[in-house]
Amino acid sequence: MLVVYEKSDHVATITLNRPEAFNAISPEVYQEFSDTMIRFRDDPDVWVAIITGAGQKAFSAGADIKQMLPRLADKSFALPPGIMRGLNIWKPIIAAINGLALGGGLEIVLACDIRIAAENARFGTPEVSLGLIPGWGGTQRLPRMLPWCKAAEILLMGKPIDAQEAYRIGLINKVVAPAELMSTAQEWAARICENGPIAIRAAKEAMIRGMNMSLDDGLRLEESFFAGLTTTEDFKEGISAFAEKRKPQYKGE
Ligand code: CAA
Repeated sequence: MLVVYEKSDHVATITLNRPEAFNAISPEVYQEFSDTMIRFRDDPDVWVAIITGAGQKAFSAGADIKQMLPRLADKSFALPPGIMRGLNIWKPIIAAINGLALGGGLEIVLACDIRIAAENARFGTPEVSLGLIPGWGGTQRLPRMLPWCKAAEILLMGKPIDAQEAYRIGLINKVVAPAELMSTAQEWAARICENGPIAIRAAKEAMIRGMNMSLDDGLRLEESFFAGLTTTEDFKEGISAFAEKRKPQYKGE
């Protein structure tokens, strides 16, 4: 399997599994990744996903230069929807970055909400060195997420930055020793799962939709989500648990 899907305690772990090629994304990997993310989206038992790469060297070195890039040049070749473009998933996604995240690999990271990196991780968009630009959201998400000059440094220099620099500029949430990467990502996922899952999805959807709205429209959107959440069983459970001084037992209803 080129993409592995495992689940436990409401958390799916999704592993890009082509370590011999730095988890580069061939058309087959892309298709399986798309199918796997749709499976995660539609799995009612799963509330959070962790995406990582197989092996010690790479999260992903991006689109497969030999197998994918020539196909992308063919106008009749269409990719399935992905989290980078075309597939909205309101459940939270954590990237556990275990090494290089280059090109399309970094663009997968940018489509994740929380980003935990091992000390050996590096981040970059080398596409310009191939006479290309990023094609899965890099030119759009980086300047929205970083100060302009840091986004420009990554996109125009084409040279990777290390994990500490990525942390310093706010591209990632945390840097840990490689041996602690998955346990840290699982701790963050478990912490998210302690909250009401419908509220978590509403918060993410409001964040993403609101990014493309005026503040006034965004505040109206938030108001409508807020009103909807007050009718859920989870909300009743949340306030009962607070009053009874116990942990809430959320069901996602
Ligand atoms: N595509 C296809 N194969 C890749 C690959 C990629 N993106 N990255 C690595 N590989 C393969 C290599 O071809 C090589 O395979 P073979 O053993 O069969 O020759 C194997 O992985 C090991 O690679 P190297 O021998 O190059 O190992 P290294 O340690 O010297 O370098 C590397 C590793 C820094 C990742 C280097 O391979 C590299 O720079 N890769 C390309 C990274 C890149 O340019 N990514 C952007 C792709 S374009 C893109 O992603 C566009 C987009 O936005 C959608």
